[in-house]
Amino acid sequence: MEMNGMRSSASDLGRRMAATLLLSLLVQVTSAQETPPRDVVAFLDQHCAKCHSGAKPKGDFTLTRLDPRMLTATTASEWIETARMLIMGEMPPASRPRPAAAASAQVVAWLRAELKRVGADTHELEIQPTGNHLDHTRLFSDPLDAPLDNPPRLWRFSPQLYFGLLKASSGERNPLTQAMSSERVDGFFDMAAGRSIDVGTLSTLMRNAARMAASATVHHLEGDKVVMDRGGLGSFAALLDPQLVPERKALDAALNSLLVYRRTQLPGTEEYAALYALYLKTRRESTAAVAARAVLTAVFLQPESMFRLELGLDPADPQGRRRLSPAEIVFALGGALRDQPLDRAQLDRARKGALDTREGVATEVRAMLAAPLSSNPRILRFFQEYFAYTSAPDVFKDKALNPDFYAPALVGDTDQLIQVILMRDKDVVKELLTTRESFIGSRWDLVKNTGGPVYPKTNNFRTYNLDAWPEGMQPVQLPVDQRCGILTQPSWLVARSQNFNNDAIRRGKWIREHLLGQAILDVPITVCAKLPDDLSQTLRTRMEVTRQEYCWTCHQSMNPLGLAFEQYDHFGRYRTSETVEDPSKPPIPGRNPKLDPPTAAKHEVALDTTGALDFTSDPTIDGPVANVHELLHRLAASTRVRQVFVRHAFRYWMGRPENIGDATSLREADTAYVASGGSMKALIVALLSSDSFLYRTVPTSP
Ligand code: HEC
Ligand code: HEC
Repeated sequence: MEMNGMRSSASDLGRRMAATLLLSLLVQVTSAQETPPRDVVAFLDQHCAKCHSGAKPKGDFTLTRLDPRMLTATTASEWIETARMLIMGEMPPASRPRPAAAASAQVVAWLRAELKRVGADTHELEIQPTGNHLDHTRLFSDPLDAPLDNPPRLWRFSPQLYFGLLKASSGERNPLTQAMSSERVDGFFDMAAGRSIDVGTLSTLMRNAARMAASATVHHLEGDKVVMDRGGLGSFAALLDPQLVPERKALDAALNSLLVYRRTQLPGTEEYAALYALYLKTRRESTAAVAARAVLTAVFLQPESMFRLELGLDPADPQGRRRLSPAEIVFALGGALRDQPLDRAQLDRARKGALDTREGVATEVRAMLAAPLSSNPRILRFFQEYFAYTSAPDVFKDKALNPDFYAPALVGDTDQLIQVILMRDKDVVKELLTTRESFIGSRWDLVKNTGGPVYPKTNNFRTYNLDAWPEGMQPVQLPVDQRCGILTQPSWLVARSQNFNNDAIRRGKWIREHLLGQAILDVPITVCAKLPDDLSQTLRTRMEVTRQEYCWTCHQSMNPLGLAFEQYDHFGRYRTSETVEDPSKPPIPGRNPKLDPPTAAKHEVALDTTGALDFTSDPTIDGPVANVHELLHRLAASTRVRQVFVRHAFRYWMGRPENIGDATSLREADTAYVASGGSMKALIVALLSSDSFLYRTVPTSP
C-alpha cells in the first residue's frame, strides 16, 4: 500500500477519531508479498535445517514446522522465535559459519511483514529482553554488511510530551488527567515498542479532549462581540460568533494556530475540509460554541495528539528507505530533546529546506543544544534513567539509625553533578565514572545561576563524611580515596541497597549490563534467593552461599563487581571498617526496657573491598581489583565501556533497542564522541542526524 494512500485515507475524520485504527493502518503500510520468496526457504535450508530437522532436532526445535508456506497465526510463535534468533545473531550457533547479515536481515524483514499480515502479536519481537543480547563486536568491529532495518512506527507520547504538547496547543489552564502511563522497557521509560492505546487510556483521552476543547473556547459576549476569557484561544473567536457563520479560511487560520496539528498537515488539505464540514454540520444542529468545540475535540483525538508519527513520508529511495518528512523531523527532534516538541520557527526553516540534508539536521540539533540544559529536559532524564539513582528515596531506611539521612537531597546532588559535567562537556563518560567532585546536600543557595529546590536543613554533609557544610562554591573536591564518580554517589549506592544492607549483587548486575553491555539471566524461580541472615557475618561472608557451582554460573558475573562497593555502608557513607553484630557480648537493652527490644551488641571488623573484573570481553581491563577506585578507573578507560554507553544513549534517543542494521549509526556516534574529546553534545548530534534516526525502511522484495 502506498504511503500517500495512507495519508489521504487517514484524513477520513471518522476513522481518525478512533486512534486504535491507526495501528492497523501501520500494519498495511508494512505488509509485503504473500508467497514466501525462494531466498527465505534457501536461507533456512542452508543455515538451520541441519540441526533443526529429523528425529532429534537440536533444542527440540523442528524446522519442518517452519516451512514458510505454513506461516499462520497458529505457528506464529515459532516464527517469532526464529526471527528473534536472527535479530540477536544467536543462531546459527557461534561455532557455525555466520550467514551474511544482509541475507539474514532480509529474512527478518520478510518474517516481520508476514507475522503482521497474519495478525500475530509481534510484541515479543519488538521488545527484546535487552539490547545487550546483540553481539558487541558485530556492532562495532566486524565488516559492515547489514542494511538499516527500521520499520515505520507510531510512538505513543510519553507523559511529559502529552502534557507539554497539548497544553501548548490548547491554552493554559487545562484540568487534564494524565492518560499516558509509563513503564520501563529495556531500562528506559519512553520506548516506542509495545505501547499502544488501550480502552482505558482511550476513554481518558476522550475526556481530556472534551476538556481541552472547552477550556480553549471559554468566552463571553459583549453585545455581538466575542471576547475570549483567560485560557481561551484567540484564533477561535471567529468560530464562536453566534451571528456570523465563518468562512473556511477562518477555520484554517484557527487550526494553523494549534501546535499539535501542524506536524503533518499543511493548510488547505482535505483534512481541513473535513473539519470545516464537521463544523458546519454541528452548527446547523446546535450552536457556534458547540461546533467549535466539536472541531477541537476531533483534533485532540487525532493520532497527532497521542502519537509521535514516524512513518517516513518522503518518497522511498532505491534501497526502500524513506526519509522522515521535514515536519516529521522537526517533531522527532522536539520529542528527542524537549517535551514541547513543536518549534514553529524550526518548522518554517524545515519547510524551506533546512533539514533536507544530514548536515542541515545536525546544524539544527547543535542550535537546540546551545540552549541551557533546562530547555532540553530529556538530556538529564537520560542520565537519571540510565544510572537510575532517582529511586533512592524509595528505599526505606530507618531514621533512628542515621538521623542525618535525607535521600531526596542526595538525588539532587547527583542531578547537579551530572549537569556540571555536561556543561563542561569534556570526557563525559570518564568524568561520570571517576570524578572526585560532589555537590553536598544540594546547597543550591550557594551555587550561582541554578534555580532549584532548597532542602530541609538536615546534616546531609555527614553522608559525605564531612563535619560541616563545605564553604564556598560547589561542587567540592572530596578526598581522593573517598568518591569516584556517579556510582559512588550516595544516591546511586542507596538506590541499589537493601533496608539494612548493601546490595552487592544488584550493583554488580548494573555494571555488567550498563557498562559492560552483557546480559545476565533472571534468577531462576526454583532458586531461594535469600542470604543467611546471620548478622554477625559480613555481607561478603553471607554471600558465600552463591559460590555453589550452580549459583556461581550467574553470580560470578555480578558479585565480584558489586563487592568492591563494600567501601561504603548502606547509607552511602565512606567507611574504613565494617560493623557487624557481636554474639559474644550480651545484647544492649532498649532505652525503655518495657517497650524497646534489646539490640545486639556490635563490633568493628576489618573491611575487605577487593573485587574483580572478569569475562568483560575487553582483555585490557580484566583482572582483580583492590577497591572501587581501581574498578571504576579501569572501566572508565575501556573502549568497550564507552561503546556500551553509546548503545544505551542510542536506545534512549531512538526509543528502541539497537539491531545489527544500526551498526553504521552506532559507529558514527562513537567516532563523533571520540573525535570531539568526549562531548555529549557531539554524541547527541551524531545520533539525531544518523540514518537510524532519519530513515524508515519498508520491506522490499528479496
Ligand atoms: C550447529 C547446529 C545448529 C544450527 C545450524 C542452528 N541451530 Fe538452532 N539450536 C541449536 C541448539 C544446540 C539449540 C539448543 C540449545 C540452545 O538454545 O543454545 C538450538 C535452539 C534453537 C531454538 C530454540 C531456542 C529456545 O530457547 O527454545 C531456535 C528457535 C533455533 N535454534 C533457531 C535456529 C535458526 C533459525 C537457525 C538458522 C538460522 C538455527 N537455529 C541453526 C543448534 C543449531
Ligand atoms: C540464572 C542466573 C542465576 C542463578 C543460577 C542464580 N542466581 Fe541468584 N540472582 C540472579 C540475579 C540476576 C539476581 C538479581 C536479581 C534482581 O536484580 O532482582 C540474583 C539475586 C540473588 C540474591 C539476592 C536476592 C535479593 O532479593 O536480595 C540471592 C541471595 C541469590 N541470587 C542467591 C542465589 C543462590 C543461592 C543461587 C544458587 C542456589 C542463585 N542465586 C542462582 C541470577 C541467578
